[in-house]
Amino acid sequence: MSLAYDLTPQEMPEDVTPEMVERIDEICAAYRGKPGALIPVLQKCQEVVGYLPVPVQEHIAKALGVPGHEVYGVTTFYSFFSMEPRGRHVVRVCMGTACYVRGGKEALDRLERHLNTPVDTTTEDRRFTLEQVRCLGACGVAPVVVVNQDTHRKVMADAVVDLVEQYD
Ligand code: FES
Repeated sequence: MSLAYDLTPQEMPEDVTPEMVERIDEICAAYRGKPGALIPVLQKCQEVVGYLPVPVQEHIAKALGVPGHEVYGVTTFYSFFSMEPRGRHVVRVCMGTACYVRGGKEALDRLERHLNTPVDTTTEDRRFTLEQVRCLGACGVAPVVVVNQDTHRKVMADAVVDLVEQYD
């Protein structure tokens, strides 16, 4: 798989602007030749673009002078890297046992219907990415929904739509 990615370069997606590519080049130039550079470079580039599609990975590989399959391997290994576009807001609904039995599943179902997107996907307008997560360690205030960095407690299905609609 990795070799195929090295051999068949793809065009940059339309949402990756020339300004973004310029910024990627700057980041890579700052890190080129430094040991352990790949992960911080990928983090910074993901902040710039929002995700790491294969053409962006290829670009980074060339700019850093590392093999494409190495970049691909790291991107796919760590869960905090995404090859799919992400929403402006990431909504995480806890599906640990306490949250699940106290209404987390209903809240998640409600969100899937309201946002018209299945769990672990992003809405077409890129406003939201909907995810499910395992116990967040706040079972006493279950069900728990985290939007970006904000933790919301005791979020029942009837309230969850109003909750996410606060995020533009
Ligand atoms: S089960 Fe949701 S916080 Fe523990």
